[in-house]
Amino acid sequence: MNDLSRALEDEHSSLSDAFDEVLASGWLVQGPQHAAFEAELADFVGTTHVLGVASGTDALEIALRAVMPAGRTAVVTAANCGGYTTTAARRAGYTVRYADIAKDTLCLDASHLAAVVDESVGVVVVTHLYGRAADVAAVRAVCEPLGIAVLEDCAQALGAQGAGGRVGSLADIAAFSFYPTKNLGALGDGGAVATSSDSIADEVRALRQYGWSAKYTIGRDGGRNSRLDEMQAAVLRRRLPRLDGWNERRRQVVTTYVARASSRIEVLPAVGPGHVGHLGVVLCDSADELRRHLAERSIRSDVHYPIPDHRQPAFIEEYRAIELPVTEWAAQRIVSVPVFPELRDDEVERVADALGSF
Ligand SMILES: Cc1ncc(COP(=O)(O)O)c(C=O)c1O
Repeated sequence: MNDLSRALEDEHSSLSDAFDEVLASGWLVQGPQHAAFEAELADFVGTTHVLGVASGTDALEIALRAVMPAGRTAVVTAANCGGYTTTAARRAGYTVRYADIAKDTLCLDASHLAAVVDESVGVVVVTHLYGRAADVAAVRAVCEPLGIAVLEDCAQALGAQGAGGRVGSLADIAAFSFYPTKNLGALGDGGAVATSSDSIADEVRALRQYGWSAKYTIGRDGGRNSRLDEMQAAVLRRRLPRLDGWNERRRQVVTTYVARASSRIEVLPAVGPGHVGHLGVVLCDSADELRRHLAERSIRSDVHYPIPDHRQPAFIEEYRAIELPVTEWAAQRIVSVPVFPELRDDEVERVADALGSF
């Protein structure tokens, strides 16, 4: 599905230079690389602030805590996004409710929100799934009159253009992951929170470092330690200028699959700046048969994601009565095929042939 060694080989000397710079600086956490990366990513995304943290899940948890209005305790999100928001929200002590997704985008359908929000809901999380910029404006239109904050989960879509700016700049706050297989990946875990609000940025700054309002002064309860280190920041700085080019290559790969797919399958398109081709996702009524067909041709596949959040074993009792028809329909039909920038043309051809001969 992904061969990270190709990018590492290609970037070997640039990454070595980055490590040398960090070693020479004597800084290992929250030093010059970290500060520069925060500023460069903020510039790229189009927000006033970016704050580095240790992972995308930490970014979600800290962002939720930073914008949850006082007295509210519930989060609403889609149930088909891998459970990261659910994990983060539950760890913060919030309850999670789910709204169904739209069949054409597989992203949160704003028209279902009214049925699940009440005065206990403080945040709605919109995930830009598979690389596609979701319709944040439609979600904000429901949330803003009710005093509900909107958080964008951009883990799969860094660089995608939404209506009015890049994803991450379209709502109150946003979370990013730099897990190695993400479109912008670190050499380990990493994450970030983005916002254009000074007061929310102050909250995030405190929450990511022990709740400190100043050194050794705990001004905010609920803090933790979640930092992005200098090595990762230096790597991410080297990679960020190449991101738009890598995203373009991902779109090309997906577009080849779309053009060659047999009539039994639908490859979700990744066209134009609103999609960064994070995953190549196929919808098929016979998903298991398709996966066998691919495996017989030595092509790996995966499912993102096979178990919707409300059907996860850890919480199934809480959600037995809940039905999300489109979410459940999609979970039975989705298959992911290899998409990453270093995929060679002959490999793209092989996957496209297999999708065409199914
Ligand atoms: C949509 C989404 N949100 C959040 C995360 C969590 O990021 P991390 O693995 O860095 O905690 C991921 C990926 O892992 C993701 O795909």
